Amino acid sequence: MKMDVLHSRIEDVEDEVIVVNLFEGVEAPGGATGAVDKATDGYITRLIRNKEFSGKQNEISLFPTFGKIKAKKVCVVGLGKAKEFGVERVRDAAGKAAVFIRDSGSKSFSTIVHGGGIGSLDIEEAGKATAEGTLLALYQHSRYRTIDLEKIKNITKVAIVEADEGKMKPIKEGIKRAKIISEAVFLARDLVNSPGCDKTPTILAETAKKIARENGLHCEIYDAPKLKKMGFGAMLGVALGSDEPCKFIILEHNRGRNLPTIVIIGKGITFDSGGISIKPSDGMDKMKYDMSGAAAVIATMQAVANLKIPLHVVALAPATENLPSGHALKPGDILKSHSGKTIEVISTDAEGRLILADALSFAKTYKPKAVIDLATLTGACVIALGNQTMGLFGTDEKLKEKIKKAAEKTSEKVWELPLWKEYYGQIESDIADMKNTGGRPAGSITGAAFLSKFIEDIPWVHLDMAGTAWSEKDKSSLQQNYIPKGGTGIGVRLLVQFLEDWKN
Ligand code: BES
Ligand code: MN
Ligand code: ZN
Repeated sequence: MKMDVLHSRIEDVEDEVIVVNLFEGVEAPGGATGAVDKATDGYITRLIRNKEFSGKQNEISLFPTFGKIKAKKVCVVGLGKAKEFGVERVRDAAGKAAVFIRDSGSKSFSTIVHGGGIGSLDIEEAGKATAEGTLLALYQHSRYRTIDLEKIKNITKVAIVEADEGKMKPIKEGIKRAKIISEAVFLARDLVNSPGCDKTPTILAETAKKIARENGLHCEIYDAPKLKKMGFGAMLGVALGSDEPCKFIILEHNRGRNLPTIVIIGKGITFDSGGISIKPSDGMDKMKYDMSGAAAVIATMQAVANLKIPLHVVALAPATENLPSGHALKPGDILKSHSGKTIEVISTDAEGRLILADALSFAKTYKPKAVIDLATLTGACVIALGNQTMGLFGTDEKLKEKIKKAAEKTSEKVWELPLWKEYYGQIESDIADMKNTGGRPAGSITGAAFLSKFIEDIPWVHLDMAGTAWSEKDKSSLQQNYIPKGGTGIGVRLLVQFLEDWKN
């Protein structure tokens, strides 16, 4: 899909559809919406008067212009209450309009910058959010379809239209950034949506290499023999059951430059059957998304390179399958981790924390200012926070604050859960340094507590994305129209925002 910026008044644009907006409760539209209303003999005012449109969030109307202006149709999207307005509403309205127009059969549209006319939003941010909402909402994963392809509707061209010459430059800049970030989110979604057979650790590592080549990143892949030499015993334990060799993926931006180092880590279980502690078969297919953390950090690196972020950023993605077999890891086995600490395996289904344990202690060798890990770690997090919010854990107040700020800006929501010492008793082992499960109570917290033992005093945040990395249905009724069904690509926008805002 092409996205361009156009310097014009929206009512003069020749296109299949033009998009304008309305705040809830406005009776006489002003600005661009007012201009379109006048040019169409007050059609929008009539809708409002007839109570057919009130500007509520998610409300949408598409009507023909019958030749009154050059555009064939007008789409009005509701922005909701003015006092609730912000960049998230912009993304959401843009996404709503884009999907509605696509599903109506049009192939092209032109839109104003939502929030561009009123004073409260920064114009670059409004441009960025309009572009982001549009691009992210139109994402489709159709690479495995071979029949009925003609039924798949597509938008091929979008123009973002601005009448004020003085706003063109910041809008262009915002759109440029939105394109880079959305491309990265698409990469993450593509990886998450791919079936396990097409993203084995080997294939994932090849993909990382390709991304590195194309974007000027440094890439290194550690294979099993190397990992054995380096003492990655916890990760190798998880990989035992699979015939697919495991890979430890390292991507680096600004390697060797004298810049502050941030390490981002993503759980890369390319399929989680549970291993010998096997999961119920119902819904097990979904466990292909157990590499969403890895997808997020790999994709973030692509954006980080293209945005030329002035930091030394390292992404670590331990990648393996978790399968049962005659040579698989067994409950009761004890593993020696990269840190030297020993782990009694109670459940082979608590595998994410095992591969992350090695990644976290390895991360310390970079002497980082901060370490962030993202993982689909626990079903308990889905129970606690649902599909809307990631669980946030950490030991460093400043770093937690930074992540919360970034989450607020991107609306990739996080909520902090405690890491109090009272919980650590649950992962004490009778025979090894710790055990890998703490039972059902506070499952997300004991998972995070386990991880904390391997990072010790380095500023660290763990995000449990088990509930947010996959979307069951189009979230059209409430919020986030720009997140289609399937892999959400969550984490990418948050990490990019965090890294862009980093100040030390
Ligand atoms: N990958 C799962 C967690 C998960 C569950 C992600 C549901 C997405 C949706 C993880 O490896 C796992 O199996 N965790 C166990 C831990 C338990 C054995 C301590 C869980 O949550 O049941
Ligand atoms: Mn598991
Ligand atoms: Zn898992």
